[in-house]
This record gives sequence, C-alpha cells and structure tokens, in this order.
Amino acid sequence: MDLMEKIVSLAKRRGFIYPGSEIYGGLTGFWDYGPLGNELKNNIKKLWWQNMVYERTDVVGIDAAIIMNPQVWRASGHLKAFTDPLIECKICHQRLRADNNDLKIAHENNHKGKTVEWTQPKSFNLMTEVFLGVTEPKQKAYLRGEITQGVFVNFQNVITSTRIKIPFGIAQIGKAFRNEITPGNFSFRSREFEQMELEYFVKPNDHEAEKLFEYWKKARLNWYKDLGIKSSNLRLRDHETRERAHYARAATDIEYKSPFGWKEFEGIHDRGDWDLSRHNLTYKDSDDNTEFTPWVIETSGGVDRAALFFLLDSYEEEGKRIFLKLNPKLAPFKAAVFPLVANKQEMVSVARSIYQTLSRKYYIAWDSRGNIGKRYYSQDEIGTPFCITVDYDTLSDNTVTVRNRDTSKQIRIKKDKLVEFISKALS
Ligand code: GAP
Repeated sequence: MDLMEKIVSLAKRRGFIYPGSEIYGGLTGFWDYGPLGNELKNNIKKLWWQNMVYERTDVVGIDAAIIMNPQVWRASGHLKAFTDPLIECKICHQRLRADNNDLKIAHENNHKGKTVEWTQPKSFNLMTEVFLGVTEPKQKAYLRGEITQGVFVNFQNVITSTRIKIPFGIAQIGKAFRNEITPGNFSFRSREFEQMELEYFVKPNDHEAEKLFEYWKKARLNWYKDLGIKSSNLRLRDHETRERAHYARAATDIEYKSPFGWKEFEGIHDRGDWDLSRHNLTYKDSDDNTEFTPWVIETSGGVDRAALFFLLDSYEEEGKRIFLKLNPKLAPFKAAVFPLVANKQEMVSVARSIYQTLSRKYYIAWDSRGNIGKRYYSQDEIGTPFCITVDYDTLSDNTVTVRNRDTSKQIRIKKDKLVEFISKALS
C-alpha cells in the first residue's frame, strides 16, 4: 500500500475520517469525522484561534451566518467569477476540470486505443444554491463559497462594537461549500469543508500591503512548522496572474508535498480594496480624521486539509510498529491509562482514579483489554503521546510507568506528578 492508502485505511479503521453517509452508498465530496478526527480538527482549530486571536491585541474573532443575503455574492463577484473550467469527454460524457492535466491523462488511459475528444471548456459556477421558505416561489440563496464575506458584511459592526483600530484583523472559522467539479484525493478536495481565515485590514498603500503580505506568509508557514510539519514538505508558491482568484491582486500558496504532488495547504492573498469597495464600506481614522477604503491581506487555511496533511506527515513505521508522530498538542488523546492486570481490583481502582484526575484537564484514553503490547500498538497508531501503566510497584511506591510514543522508552514517575508531566509536554 502507498502512504495515501495507508492513511485512508487507518482513518476509517480508527475513527478519524469516514465516507459521508456511507450506509446509503456515500455522497461524492462529503466526509464525516469520527471520534478521533473530530478531536484532531478541534485541536487544530483551538490552536489556530489561540495563535491568531488570543495571542494578539490587533485581532478579534467572529462567527457569521453560513447563508447570507444573495446580494452579498452579487457584490463580491462570486456569482459571476467564482468558476472553474469544465470539459466533457465525447465518448463517455464524463466531466472533468479543464485545468487538471493529470486527470485528463488518467481518463484518456481508460479509453485505451481510442482517440479521446474533449468539448471546449465551459465555465461552471462553484456556488451551491439553496431555497428558503415553504411557499412558492421560494427564495434562492447560497451556501457560502468562502467564509470571508461574513467578515466584510460585519466590518462596520465590528469597528463600532470594539476598540479595534487599523491595522487590525477579523478572524473566523467555519464551513464553506463548493460545487467542485472533481472532488478527490480523499478529503483534500471536498464539497463541504471548513476554513480558518484572517482578514487583516491595512492602510491603502503598496508599502504597507507588501510588508504585511510578507509578514503573514512567514507567520503562517512557521505555524505549520512549529506544529511539526517537516520543513522539507512545505514550500511557498506565488500564483501566476492567470491562476489568481477574481478578488486577488497577489497570491501565494503554502503548499504541502503530498503523495499526490505539491498541493495547496493555505492561501495568502492580497485582496486590495476589492471587497470593501464592492460593499461600499470605508474606514474613518480617528487619529487624522481621514476616511478611506482599507486594503485586505488574507490568510485562508483549510481545517480538513490540515487534518489530512498532519496525518500524512506524522505517519511512521518502525518494523511492525505504526505510529503517528503528532505534536502532543494535536494528538486526540494526550495520554492513555492502563491497569497492567484487568482483574486485580486494587490496580484497576488506582488506574481509574488517575484516569479521573487527568481527564478533568485532558482527553485521556482508558484501556484494560488484551495484553499491554496490544494496548501500546493501538495507542501508537492513533498518536497518543504517552501510555501510563499502573502495575504492582504502583501499589507500594505510588509510581507508574510512562511510555513515550516516539522512542518506546519507559520512565517511572510519581503518580501525583502526572498532571505536571503532561502539561509540560503540551507547553
Ligand atoms: N477566502 C479565500 C479562499 O477561500 P481559497 O484558496 O479558495 O481561498 C482557501 O481557499 C483554503 O480553503 C485552501 O487553501 C484550502 O485549504 C481550503 N479549501 C478550498 N477549497 C477546498 C475544497 N474543495 N476542499 C477542501 N478544502 C478546500
């Protein structure tokens, strides 16, 4: 199996990611997150929010509605320009994105011996329509294609309800929906996904915009590195003019070296005054009484892509041992607690009490089934950084063994030092 197959299999088997509505045959482009996938995504989002909102005095966070007045999308240009080019195979009528050569070649190989002709590219809008109300005619609206516009429509509300002053940012995390022509590569390209975005408002001048564009590129790249993505698997790639979204003056992708090639992890965009001017919004600077349309530097990451790339990047094999070398901050469980022997009541009750103490602060796994080797194997495979075992010695000296996921080494520590030990590993 190649790495991608291993991750898809592990994700399903251990409860990270399942195919959406699988019992009805699934639905292309939709994925469900299981108990561990949900934890991983929540950890990614919490760490992002900590870094982008709580640790900064110049950023506030909001949570806007998914469905907005359709005029928002007319003004933002999405109804006209948020499109992908689509071509159709004249033999079997399968439709593909015209700009994806790999898919075209793979498709042509399916018709071995025949010359495949394609229709001319047609533009297809990616916005997902919904209909509101119960009586006809129902009101047409859209599921948001990017979470971003929710920030712009609340630009004035945020300024008047907070003490924020330019330069400042508005952060948001939430679901976005795109009618992707070719969802694929597992959860990489889905029709429903989550974004974590910062819209950073700056004074409208080139020097300021360039400075902050560079600043955010570096800051966002470092965030992934600090959380353990290997530097050799990350790069920045500037967009050529023809690839840029309709709103962008400049764009750079943070890319990840995945088993299916270098792929976009996160986009850093200089949106200039595109959005605010389209929505007729300005900013009054109380320092010098000027009024202007700020420019926007945006960082836009995908939570689902982050979850997938963290899984891919952390996967390790050592002989028969499989482990996810996830940063402890990202790991679904921070530790697992075992009684060495499941039928020794005294041991189980000490282990239970350790479990209860730790789980007041952290998400902790409990396992008393099978032998200790199997329990280690099972926790390694889901990235649990520490396995804590209560054994015979614990009953006499109050120490436990703590096994490290990455080295398999064990140390003994006092059971009342466990909270401190885990909190140090997470700092
Ligand atoms: N507001 C700007 C914006 O939406 P984008 O480059 O279209 O920019 C930003 O998307 C991020 O959202 C991408 O880098 C990716 O992580 C995520 N994303 C976009 N489309 C996606 C899809 N179909 N499936 C999963 N994630 C997606």
